[in-house]
Amino acid sequence: MRAEPAAAGRDPLANGLHEPGLALHIEDLTVSYHGKPALWDIDINLPPGVMAAIVGPNGAGKSTLIKAVIDLVKPVAGHVCIHGRPYREQRRRVGYVPQRTTVDWDFPTTALDVVMMGLYGQLGWLRRPGRRERERAMAALAEVGIADLAKRQISQLSGGQQQRVFLARALVQQADIYFLDEPMAGVDATTERTVVDLLHKLRDAGKTLVVVHHDLQTVQDYFNWIVILNVRLIAQGPVREVYTPENLHKAYGGQAALLQRGSFTGGRGPHAPMDLSS
Ligand SMILES: Nc1ncnc2c1ncn2[C@@H]1O[C@H](COP(=O)(O)OP(=O)(O)O)[C@@H](O)[C@H]1O
Ligand SMILES: [Mg+2]
Repeated sequence: MRAEPAAAGRDPLANGLHEPGLALHIEDLTVSYHGKPALWDIDINLPPGVMAAIVGPNGAGKSTLIKAVIDLVKPVAGHVCIHGRPYREQRRRVGYVPQRTTVDWDFPTTALDVVMMGLYGQLGWLRRPGRRERERAMAALAEVGIADLAKRQISQLSGGQQQRVFLARALVQQADIYFLDEPMAGVDATTERTVVDLLHKLRDAGKTLVVVHHDLQTVQDYFNWIVILNVRLIAQGPVREVYTPENLHKAYGGQAALLQRGSFTGGRGPHAPMDLSS
């Protein structure tokens, strides 16, 4: 790892496509808030069609990573490519589901309206949504199991229902790559199953999913790729190669043993149980 992050000035994209084979390519990314680094010199390469977990302790920079990718925070250094081009050129191919708890759910609007907002990028500013758009939004609400709540104010929805609204909004975007910030945090078990099944369906259709995930117990069941962060990049790669006690310890320190209890011995998922003695 180099001592200083790369200078922000050079433009590595000047010569056209950059790592076009990758769904997400991040190079030398450093992000600071008030001079304190939240991410330090991060390199990430993500092939298309994976379902990737981003894990790391509280304050590790997981949300910041997603925000840097979609231009919501400005990096000190580094660059990001989505399918070989910067985000500003790939906006329409990107779906974003923010952390549910960071959103103002008291805003007076209906579930259906929130889902329709997912279509604005495709409509452009001059066209108002019509019957076709309404039908698409209703179909997405049906797909996440809450068509009957379309007209309800979002303030009157449970946490699980709010999360389903967000998913429906992402679905109508028909993106190629989705970034979701803790979509399974604070929802009931049924909603969690709905979320996971839907994400797997998207992955099976060739989409790339990048999911900030808080629950180490389910990483092996849900994901086939993982990025382990704690301000610096700890490890990245296929879950079965990279999701090891050593790497978790590097990210979580002494907390790791507690958090991962059982997750290396049960073999609950499609992957073989890991050897704890190694
Ligand atoms: N808008 C902000 N202003 C100042 N500090 C922030 C801001 N957003 C995040 N941080 C800080 O940056 C670090 C990383 O935050 P975050 O990306 O939210 O971590 P995570 O999602 O992994 O919990 C934390 O120390 C957090 O307090
Ligand atoms: Mg976060």
